[in-house]
Amino acid sequence: MGEPQKKGGHILAVAGGKGGVGKSIFSVTLSTTLAMMGYRVIVVDLDLGGANLHTYLGVMEKTLSLYHFIHKKVATLEDIVVKTPIANLSFISGAHYSPTMSSPAAELKVKLIRHLYALDADFIVIDLGAGMDLSTLDFFIFSDRGFLVTVPEPAAVMNAYRFIQGALFRKMVTVFGKHNEIGTIVRDLGQVDAQDESVMLNWFINRVKEIDPEVSPLVQEVSSRFQPFLVLNRIAYEQAQRLVETLVRHCRDRYAVDIRYLGNLPDVRAITSFLLDVPGFLKSDSGKAYFLSLKSIVRRFLIDLHDANVLTEKLNIRKEFNEKTLDALSKLIDNLDASIVSDAGKKLWKLRLFFKPAEVVKFLLSKGIKQDIFFESDNLHLKK
Ligand SMILES: Nc1ncnc2c1ncn2[C@@H]1O[C@H](COP(=O)(O)OP(=O)(O)OP(=O)(O)O)[C@@H](O)[C@H]1O
Ligand SMILES: [Mg+2]
Repeated sequence: MGEPQKKGGHILAVAGGKGGVGKSIFSVTLSTTLAMMGYRVIVVDLDLGGANLHTYLGVMEKTLSLYHFIHKKVATLEDIVVKTPIANLSFISGAHYSPTMSSPAAELKVKLIRHLYALDADFIVIDLGAGMDLSTLDFFIFSDRGFLVTVPEPAAVMNAYRFIQGALFRKMVTVFGKHNEIGTIVRDLGQVDAQDESVMLNWFINRVKEIDPEVSPLVQEVSSRFQPFLVLNRIAYEQAQRLVETLVRHCRDRYAVDIRYLGNLPDVRAITSFLLDVPGFLKSDSGKAYFLSLKSIVRRFLIDLHDANVLTEKLNIRKEFNEKTLDALSKLIDNLDASIVSDAGKKLWKLRLFFKPAEVVKFLLSKGIKQDIFFESDNLHLKK
């Protein structure tokens, strides 16, 4: 059996830090809306300790679930995708709890992520559990884009903030973990007593400056490229402003993280009558206000995504970068004339290859360099 092939669907993670804020309801309503727009969507219940998406979707009969994948009763995630009554919307159940599921070992986590990317859909929406254990953070940072859902309560907003902080440092570990000296420091960051966590990033940047000055701009770059979406649930508009402003400002000032605030969802009591058919809520009279707000959230999200992806898709830039392609790109950068990129610049672009290879390709294209290895297949590109 071969390795699962990456299909190029977008993985969207839904998290929030705090329990009960509406993550799962949002995962289902977001997925339903995207499916109604004609996108092929798979919503995945990755709240491994407290799976409940199957009830929200009204898929009550015993179906295959992640349990079967984790315990190797099936070979691929594709084998446990279940249809829902909504056209274009499929589902992977997290039901059938077993203790090994709630905090998967590193190896299993990597396997899950690889299989998620191999699913055949336009969007793969993953509903994460509350809290911020390592597997939740990792699913969040390995997704293409993350949504943070919170309610307008100080504790919940604080949790969302902590979640962003935790996810950012996990991201730093994945980018800098392999660097000899910086790797040790970045792994220790999690251990630092965060009395005044606002200094943590600065402290880290300063340490990196001492060790390898040319690498330090990359720290800021990793932060600013980490752009979680924010959705406020159960809220009236006026309430939202101050909370959002504070959260966005803190994340920007302390971590250079650019939060994309997408909007609010209203508090609708009647939702409780639809807990066995959440998609049905969207079509009901009582769901009208919620659906309206949700559609504007989805619109903003799609515009943001479009802006980020349009160039990649138009030019058919490759999505899969294996060691051989990365190596070739690295050599290509080395051989560039110093009038195109300075030596210091070359070093940064080469490091970037390990977290944003497509960006590197776009940069090279912007410099007028074209190579077949940039593209998915070499018969389509730049014909127009
Ligand atoms: N917009 C809303 N208006 C009114 N009630 C809501 C709204 N969103 C969620 N709820 C209520 O909150 C409850 C919890 O929602 P949900 O299961 O989505 O939370 P969660 O964040 O996924 O929880 P957990 O952390 O346990 O996974 C729902 O049963 C519903 O009654
Ligand atoms: Mg949930």
